[in-house]
Amino acid sequence: MNGIGGYLTLLFLAANISFSFQTPNTVNPCCFFPCQHQGVCVRFELERYECDCTRTGYYGTNCTIPELWTRVLEYLRPSPGFYHYILTRYKWFWDLINATFIRDTIMRLVLKVRSNLIPSPPTYNSAYGYISWEAYSNVSYYTRILPPIADDCPTPMGTKGKIELPDANFIVETFLKRERFIPDPQGSNLMFAFFAQHFTHQFFKTYGRMGRGFTKGLGHGVDLSHIYGDTLERQHMLRLFKDGKMKYQIINGDMYPPTVVEAPVHMIYPDNVPKEKQYAVGQEVFGLLPGLMMYATLWLREHNRVCDILKKEHPTWSDEQLFQTTRLVLIGETIKIVIEDYVQHLSGYYLKLKFDPELLFGVQFQYRNRIAVEFNQLYHWHPLMPDSFQIVKENYNYSNFVYNTSILADYGVEALVESFSKQKAGKIGGGANIHPHLLKVAVGVIEESRKLRVQPFNEYRKRFNLKAYKSFQDFTGEETISKHLESIYGDIDALEFYPGLLLEKTLPKSIFGESMIEIGAPFSLKGLMGNPICSPEYWKPSTFGGETGFNIVKTASLKKLVCLNVKQCPFVSFHVPDPENGETQFSTIKIPDEL
Ligand code: HEM
Ligand SMILES: *[C@@H]1O[C@H](CO)[C@@H](O)[C@H](O)[C@H]1NC(C)=O
Ligand SMILES: *[C@@H]1O[C@H](CO)[C@@H](O)[C@H](O)[C@H]1NC(C)=O
Ligand SMILES: *[C@@H]1O[C@H](CO)[C@@H](O)[C@H](O)[C@H]1NC(C)=O
Ligand SMILES: *[C@@H]1O[C@H](CO)[C@@H](O)[C@H](O)[C@H]1NC(C)=O
Ligand SMILES: *[C@@H]1O[C@H](CO)[C@@H](O)[C@H](O)[C@H]1NC(C)=O
Repeated sequence: MNGIGGYLTLLFLAANISFSFQTPNTVNPCCFFPCQHQGVCVRFELERYECDCTRTGYYGTNCTIPELWTRVLEYLRPSPGFYHYILTRYKWFWDLINATFIRDTIMRLVLKVRSNLIPSPPTYNSAYGYISWEAYSNVSYYTRILPPIADDCPTPMGTKGKIELPDANFIVETFLKRERFIPDPQGSNLMFAFFAQHFTHQFFKTYGRMGRGFTKGLGHGVDLSHIYGDTLERQHMLRLFKDGKMKYQIINGDMYPPTVVEAPVHMIYPDNVPKEKQYAVGQEVFGLLPGLMMYATLWLREHNRVCDILKKEHPTWSDEQLFQTTRLVLIGETIKIVIEDYVQHLSGYYLKLKFDPELLFGVQFQYRNRIAVEFNQLYHWHPLMPDSFQIVKENYNYSNFVYNTSILADYGVEALVESFSKQKAGKIGGGANIHPHLLKVAVGVIEESRKLRVQPFNEYRKRFNLKAYKSFQDFTGEETISKHLESIYGDIDALEFYPGLLLEKTLPKSIFGESMIEIGAPFSLKGLMGNPICSPEYWKPSTFGGETGFNIVKTASLKKLVCLNVKQCPFVSFHVPDPENGETQFSTIKIPDEL
């Protein structure tokens, strides 16, 4: 055995050596990323390539020459920077627009332009850099927007940069580690941060055991598997099988998720947490943080609340039909809240965003979605996390907070919502803002991107209609850090994807830079609107049990999610209280009149 292994190693070494002595002109030509404007690079013979420019609007060897119509559009189309500028200024103008049909027109345009950047059906994955049936049909893979860098390229990033990439630990320690907490200038709070984490972990579930690039989340989108579980088996463990409801327990008179004793599903907890203290929910990692379990509790209460409402209108319905219909109502509520509360806050737009599937009924749109590796990498927003967690009057550091199963029921949902709504979250972009406790996660992202051969940051800029940065100064907008980055990467075209997103100069008063928005928004909106409930066949009252259920979807909000499921309505928001908007530090809201 050993002998054969050794022999094979020798063969590999020999292959490697002979490879590095190849003449430069036998380099895989696709390593140069020659094809522009989404042209597809195909290798022919040894050193020849062709760019397939079909339907790109460009032609020529590298798809660089615009067709006439493209030239006109190119000339007329303002840059993303320009759009962003307009959308985040002139409030009076947008208030006027809001009251007119132009709001719908612009919203439709936003959805169309963003979604069109995401190929649907999906194309590549981490094992297949070309269109293939396996990549299409094997949904255990995350998809890829850009194919992996070929294995035989001269440098790790293709042809640019150094033979060896800088150590991932070094990058994280030098550029990403927090020295002093930098608050998000947009005023995001922990309520926002935990929503981000809770919401995205229904479709970001990297399947470590299958190797990187695989997911356990076969629903590839807003399927609410973080509430109901990935598998039918897990769902059944979590269900009460009465009136469509989920299992629960009552603590201090309030509803919480059941324990794993009552709902025996696999949950990840440290060994010292007894089974009686382990909450059982759809996502196995949600024991990690009280903020995640707080959201799990809210959605559990919401599910059982909606079941009661549906049951009243449909006394003949089976447990199964009540459960299934309620699940669709909650999917609708989630999408509504994500677009109109979460994305609205994150975008900083004065355009009032609108969740209305009918906006897309007249245009070509595919009701399907596949989660991409790049989206997963991009969403590692760990800089959001503060130095410590302030709950009512107590301060919890990471060791007191992480996996602390007492906090949720000790304080109750109201107190947690209010505390998280009042505490500032960190700024995501601009660097130097990841708490030391979370640095290893960022190292993991960078190491994963190397294993998966994720293309350079600039290639993604171009793929999403942004101009490639010409220099590191251009990229960070300053001198010191850019010099340092240049010395370790060697070439701006060799800068990696995740460091690129986190270190790019941030937009004025913004939580991150242009690339995070322009690359993230298309994935996000495609994932939300690509849900089957948004399709013409599904988007009608009967799908949600009638007008009542349909209205619950159409009027959902973060505030209602909280306040219809607690006894005392606390201050609840995705941004810290803003005195200029009349928001005080004290909760004054009473249920339910104001909702
Ligand atoms: C104290 C808070 C947090 C801790 C302790 C934490 C810890 C972790 C850990 C240990 C991983 C797995 C890393 C790996 O497998 O290599 C992870 C993954 C991830 N985290 Fe966090 N995280 C926190 C907050 C957040 C927040 C606020 C977000 C915001 C969106 C976030 C987004 C993600 C994403 C997208 C992944 C990838 C998940 C996957 O692919 O399975 N995390 N985090
Ligand atoms: C196409 O791209 C390659 C690689 O970047 C470059 O060497 C070549 O000059 C380009 N050809 C044309 C016609 O632009
Ligand atoms: C925008 O219009 C909607 C109705 O179309 C209204 O409910 C909302 O209050 C308006 N918002 C602003 C900020 O004017
Ligand atoms: C998907 O691909 C992986 C890796 O090749 C393989 O192990 C798995 O069985 C495939 N899944 C299906 C459903 O074919
Ligand atoms: C967290 O706080 C506790 C006291 O509550 C202290 O014993 C512990 O050392 C702190 N841990 C860290 C990592 O600072
Ligand atoms: C967990 O939180 C409770 C408050 O709910 C606190 O009394 C306890 O010390 C915390 N546990 C740890 C290990 O820090």
